[in-house]
Amino acid sequence: MAAFDLVIRNARCATAADTFNADIGIIQGRIAALGLDLAGGAEEIDAAGRWVLPGGIDAHVHFDQPTNDGSRMADDFLTGTRSAACGGTTTVIPFACQQKGQSLRAAVEDYHLRAEGKASVDYAFHLIVADPTDNVLDVELPALIREGYSSFKIYMTYDDLKLNDRQIIDVLAVARAEGAMVMIHAENTDCISWLTERLLKQGKTAPRYHAQSRPMLVEREATHRAIALSELVDVPILIVHVSGREAVEQIRWAQGQGLRIYAETCPQYLFLTAEDLGLEDDEHNHGAKCICSPPPRDKANQQVIWDGLESGLFQVFSSDHAPFCFDGPDGKKAAGADASFDKIPNGIPGVETRLPLLFSHGVLNGPLEMSQFVALTATNPAKTYGLYPRKGSIAVGADADLVIWDTGLERTIKNTDLHHAVDYTPYEGIAVSAWPAITLLRGEIVWRDGEFTGQAGKGQFLPCDLPTPAHPKTRKDNS
Ligand code: URP
Ligand code: ZN
Ligand code: ZN
Repeated sequence: MAAFDLVIRNARCATAADTFNADIGIIQGRIAALGLDLAGGAEEIDAAGRWVLPGGIDAHVHFDQPTNDGSRMADDFLTGTRSAACGGTTTVIPFACQQKGQSLRAAVEDYHLRAEGKASVDYAFHLIVADPTDNVLDVELPALIREGYSSFKIYMTYDDLKLNDRQIIDVLAVARAEGAMVMIHAENTDCISWLTERLLKQGKTAPRYHAQSRPMLVEREATHRAIALSELVDVPILIVHVSGREAVEQIRWAQGQGLRIYAETCPQYLFLTAEDLGLEDDEHNHGAKCICSPPPRDKANQQVIWDGLESGLFQVFSSDHAPFCFDGPDGKKAAGADASFDKIPNGIPGVETRLPLLFSHGVLNGPLEMSQFVALTATNPAKTYGLYPRKGSIAVGADADLVIWDTGLERTIKNTDLHHAVDYTPYEGIAVSAWPAITLLRGEIVWRDGEFTGQAGKGQFLPCDLPTPAHPKTRKDNS
């Protein structure tokens, strides 16, 4: 009888700490042994010296999330997780979003129904707290955190989601008491609405004005305020989708003060600029394809984001996959083909392209060490959201979520090659030199040589532990 269900031979492994050559022995979906010349497996794959990395964890995706503006997310858990697997991501963390007036638990139950039987990679849920009533703060949120929903996002903008400062403080206090991780969307909502009104009055309605309605000052102010509120309550927070210099400066300052401020950035802030939002006479609103918030900035800000990835300012690199079709009545054109920028759904797809883009331009042809890539895309997300050590590394006992990479490729990203249900990718035409050859989810091949081989319903729901990075700082008290 074979010693292992599967052995991956001659792997060039990387973790967030080390790189090493090993055979990987897998039993019942978990890594059972790492070693040289391991005994035989019932199946064997020869990695032949190729990079074998932990499966990606995309800790910021939106699948099948209900909307209030007539739009509909193109990807549900079926197509969203399929796309994830094909791009080397084996765990996703989308959002169970509370609508105002809805109980948080109802939002979670609804979201489980949306995922059930459809997911082909593993998944956990972040909560979105949009209506922090007394019952939510005192009963629902603490209970849900203890049940494995140990992270949640709050918004400082968007009319149907935003919290005021007092509400943010109340929610942060619950996170501190319970040990949850809070993700904050930091943009100043009143500045945005004032700027938007002015632009519209001047007839500036094209997609490109989205960027002018949300300049970096708006993000800087809210980032500063979020940091101050977290300092007041003495609880760590993570600022999501950081776009450029001014927010980075706030985060760097806070980290320098010893505050536990974590930060996430996304491919759109490395590979897109405000110019991708189109020209003034964008007759067909093509720039809508790149409308997301915060908006992409400019080349100088892209460099600041690269520097932040390299220096360790950022802990997490996510896609913020928010999938709306460009054509059709319920995507970017939900309010009409020539709708003004403020009526165009925010968000762009990217769950499948996140890892190949960063591997190609960050590691093979950029400033990142392989271990930094692994940390940003797998290990740190697992630790930040309570999935470590089951997920996020190559270690004995961990789930055998692994990606064997092809490198040295000469290809460009084409939407026709992708597996999401969106009719475009904002990254069309960008060159990549790396793509997963094989993705394994708990030892099962879900993507091999250009074919999706996963199965709907095989993805498991992952209750999350309380994340260690969410612990308030232990102070040395000399008094
Ligand atoms: O524009 C964006 N980022 N849409 C997705 C929702 C969010 O705020 O992350
Ligand atoms: Zn956001
Ligand atoms: Zn998002």
